[in-house]
Amino acid sequence: MPFAPGETTAQQRDAFADFDHNDPAVSAEQFRARHDEMRETCPVAHSSQYGGFDVLTRYDDVRAVLSAPALFSSADGVFIPPSGFPRVAAMEFDDPKHTMWRRLMGPPLTIRAVREFEPTILEIIDSLIDSFVADGSADLVRDIAEPLPSLVVGRVVGLGHDESLAGRDIASRVFAAIGSAEFTERLDRFQEFVDEQLDERRRHPKDDFLTQIASGAVDGVPINSAGAASLMVSYIVGGHHSTGSGIAGLLRDVLTDDLVRQAVTSDPAALSRAVDESLRLNTPLQYFARSVVEDTAVGGESIGKGGRVLVDLAAANRDPRQFEHPERFDLGRRRNPHVAFGAGAHVCLGQHLARAEMRLVVGRLLERLPDLRLVGDAPEAVVAGKLVTTRALPVEFTPGS
Ligand code: HEM
Repeated sequence: MPFAPGETTAQQRDAFADFDHNDPAVSAEQFRARHDEMRETCPVAHSSQYGGFDVLTRYDDVRAVLSAPALFSSADGVFIPPSGFPRVAAMEFDDPKHTMWRRLMGPPLTIRAVREFEPTILEIIDSLIDSFVADGSADLVRDIAEPLPSLVVGRVVGLGHDESLAGRDIASRVFAAIGSAEFTERLDRFQEFVDEQLDERRRHPKDDFLTQIASGAVDGVPINSAGAASLMVSYIVGGHHSTGSGIAGLLRDVLTDDLVRQAVTSDPAALSRAVDESLRLNTPLQYFARSVVEDTAVGGESIGKGGRVLVDLAAANRDPRQFEHPERFDLGRRRNPHVAFGAGAHVCLGQHLARAEMRLVVGRLLERLPDLRLVGDAPEAVVAGKLVTTRALPVEFTPGS
């Protein structure tokens, strides 16, 4: 049910004037409590931080914004404050360029392409498990959730093991330097890395996506070297922390709840449902921004042209108006239309790949290490910037081969 007009008083809106979604001192639990409070008391809240923006927390309002890209533009950047990074491919473009980017980036990430790629994902998962299986202990964040997404996305485009990790390291250093003097130099280094890979494919073409990019066009859509670097940043960085967080969240959910563990061990359909239920409850990437193109109203409140709006995906995913018993990890949900991957025109291009990684990694770990158990207390989720994640998952198991 969308918010009824006039329900929010000026006093309620002002109660969140100090709201800063980047505040590093706020824990994941405090974040959740604040989402709930905002959604229930002031679903169109106003923050005066970063030049001012409205925060939307109800499911219907969040979906309404994400489904109207002509009215809510992504072209001014989808982060508050702006990342300072060159515009991220696909994500920070409006049409017609947005559609062009999706056509360029989409082919290796379709459901069909991902299904065909599953044996390769399993091979990568097995090689990671092989590296610690004889030890009888591991940290599933350090040893699986963190390296797997970069290795997988690297292979998707055609990079080998070492190049995938090198690409991730260079891209991570660029992101770590945002706002500092080293930023341009590090970005140039990433461009060089991509150019080296493209040159290599021009000299020695292969049957891979990088070779297609190196040819200057994908499915008839032209792409130059700067475009290729932007695309690679989006793949490597976009798919890295988010998927790592998704994997860690699902592993934590499965290893801390015996009923969930039993269900996913015996029933592949339950495992697929657990992937989405975990994404709904953990929502790895919480916030995305838009700019208002024309005066409009959302949730019964007027929002003026030029205003900035922040959609809170985590709050929407726990909205009781949409999800019965939203706090419950419920494998019985017949539909799970969560917005952890966004919605509308900009819905995540990597969602099928991310789901496949999450499903396959949990399935394989439980199959190969049936007595896998967490050591110590259930680890807390933490907020790192806009990302909800788990820092470590120490486990023990009977050493295998
Ligand atoms: C669990 C893992 C992931 C989560 C939670 C996630 C989340 C999201 C969300 C919420 C958006 C929408 C942003 C917006 O509306 O402004 C998005 C877009 C996008 N994601 Fe993901 N993502 C994940 C994995 C991946 C992977 C593995 C890749 C690539 C290999 C990827 C590539 C992209 C791209 C290119 C877009 C932009 C799409 C567009 O603007 O049309 N993501 N993602």
